[in-house]
Amino acid sequence: MAAKFGVGKLTRHLFLCIGPNCIESEQGQQAWDYLKKRLKQLNLAGSDGPCYRTKCDCLRICIDGPICVVYPEGTWYKQANPENLERIIQQHLIGGKVVEELCFARNPLAPDSSDR
Ligand code: FES
Repeated sequence: MAAKFGVGKLTRHLFLCIGPNCIESEQGQQAWDYLKKRLKQLNLAGSDGPCYRTKCDCLRICIDGPICVVYPEGTWYKQANPENLERIIQQHLIGGKVVEELCFARNPLAPDSSDR
């Protein structure tokens, strides 16, 4: 079952908070729907990976949302609305470069964490 979703081939995992405190729930849901649609259209999420996406209720920042975090870089983004998610998809997920204007914090995961 996991392989169907690309587990084993993943290079990035994006979490998106859909509110209700950092953003109205309706807008959070719109952002999530946009993210899902675009990752599918661009063939970035599926049995070949490379991206996994998860919606969540709260990432505990609770301001200037939707809040989004991309691992393994541990890049935290604010204002991840559809327009800015497109920038994150194109520049970060595809291009490998952080969208500096939207990034408010960084916490990369240890590259050797799989050995622990
Ligand atoms: S409700 Fe979005 S980070 Fe808390």
